[in-house]
Amino acid sequence: MKRIILFASGSGSNVENIVNYFQEKPNVTIAMVLTNKRDAKVLDRCNRLNISALYFNKQAYNNSDTVLNLIKDVNPDLIVLAGFLWKIPEKYVEIFPNKIVNIHPALLPKYGGKGMYGDNVHKAVKENKETETGITIHYVNENYDEGSIIEQQKVALFPQDTYQEIAQKVHHLEYEYFPKVIERLLQ
Ligand code: GRF
Repeated sequence: MKRIILFASGSGSNVENIVNYFQEKPNVTIAMVLTNKRDAKVLDRCNRLNISALYFNKQAYNNSDTVLNLIKDVNPDLIVLAGFLWKIPEKYVEIFPNKIVNIHPALLPKYGGKGMYGDNVHKAVKENKETETGITIHYVNENYDEGSIIEQQKVALFPQDTYQEIAQKVHHLEYEYFPKVIERLLQ
């Protein structure tokens, strides 16, 4: 049985998509979802999906090994960041080498780094009149949006696309590809 831990800070549509994808895959289980936002919508989704979910604060994440020990107890095959906005402590990267993956809603290395998340990314892409955007799934290291790239998928953009429409195009790519890449990494 392969075990996944998911981290999310926001709505959790990727979390829900991943949970649904692995629902009918008997050899993969979503052990738990962890979030740093007490009121994150992802918690509501987990309640509805009957997925274990925990909220943690800085004290548990950075200033102690509470979250780290929780992860060690689960001993996941993969740690998946699905819209998680805090940096991963170096200690986590050292303990789980090549086991932490992230999805970024743009074609890294463009539009990455601190502060480049959610609509900020799509607004910048539009501002720069990009003719394409996409997703980047990559291994996580101790810096935002670095780490070796696992997969990128692209979508064409048109001048009349609003940043909301750009976000929608990117979400479609995320929902189609992220679960499949996770499944491949678990082989
Ligand atoms: C997604 O666009 C993902 O690429 C980025 O954060 C967003 C999370 O969206 N890392 P959701 O919370 O899964 O709806």
